[in-house]
Amino acid sequence: MMDHRRYSLQWGDVPASVAPYVPTPISVVRKMLELSKAGVDDVVYDLGCGDGRILFTAVEEFDVKKAVGYELNPSMYETARLKVERKGLQGRVEVIKGNFFLANLSGASLITLYLTTSGNAKLRPKFERELRGGARVVSHDFPVQGWTTVKPGLSNPYTVGSHRLYLYRIPDSYEAGTDIRRSPREESRWRRIRDIFLHDDDRG
Ligand SMILES: C[S@@+](CC[C@H](N)C(=O)[O-])C[C@H]1O[C@@H](n2cnc3c(N)ncnc32)[C@H](O)[C@@H]1O
Repeated sequence: MMDHRRYSLQWGDVPASVAPYVPTPISVVRKMLELSKAGVDDVVYDLGCGDGRILFTAVEEFDVKKAVGYELNPSMYETARLKVERKGLQGRVEVIKGNFFLANLSGASLITLYLTTSGNAKLRPKFERELRGGARVVSHDFPVQGWTTVKPGLSNPYTVGSHRLYLYRIPDSYEAGTDIRRSPREESRWRRIRDIFLHDDDRG
C-alpha cells in the first residue's frame, strides 16, 4: 500500500493549503460519484485531487465528459499528471498544479471534496458565487457548514462504513445547517481522522 505520508505537505507548508494529503478509499470514491449521480453530462472538479483517483474513476467508470483536478502538493500533482499520460486520458482529465481558491469553478457541474470543515467554509462563498444552478457538491467526511444536504432517500448524511458523505445541490442547499449525529463507532473514527487533519478551529 502507498505510504501517503511520504508525499504529504504538513499543515502550513503552503499558505493556501487547507488539508494534508490523505486518499479517499476507492470504494468511497465510487459512492461519492454514485450518490451524486455522476454521468455523461458532468464536468467534475476535484479540489485537491491528490493522486487523481476521483478524476480517473469519474472518467473511467462513470463516463463523465471531463474531470479537472487542482493540486498544490508538487509530488501529488506529478503522480496524477503521470497517470493521465500513462492512461492516455489527456483529452478528458486535466490536472492543474495550483491553488483551487484561484480557480474559476463556473464550468463545474459536480465538485468533489476531501478537505476540512474550515477549508470547506472558506470555499463556501466561492461556491455560492461561481457554481451554476443544479451543480452538486459532494464532500467526504467534512460538511459544508450552514448548508443543508440533499436527502438521497437514505440516511442524511450518507454513510459508507464509518465514512460520511455530504451531498449538496446549488442553490437549494444554502439554507439551514445540517444536524450531525454520530454513532460511537463513527465518533471514534471521526476523532482519529480529525487529529490527522485539523486545526483547532475545526475541532468540535
Ligand atoms: C485529503 S487530500 C484528498 C485527495 C483526493 N481528493 C482524494 O480524495 O483522494 C486533500 C488534498 O488537497 C490538496 N490541497 C489542499 N489545499 C489546496 C489548495 N488550496 N489548492 C489545491 N490543492 C489543495 C492537498 O495537497 C491534498 O493533496
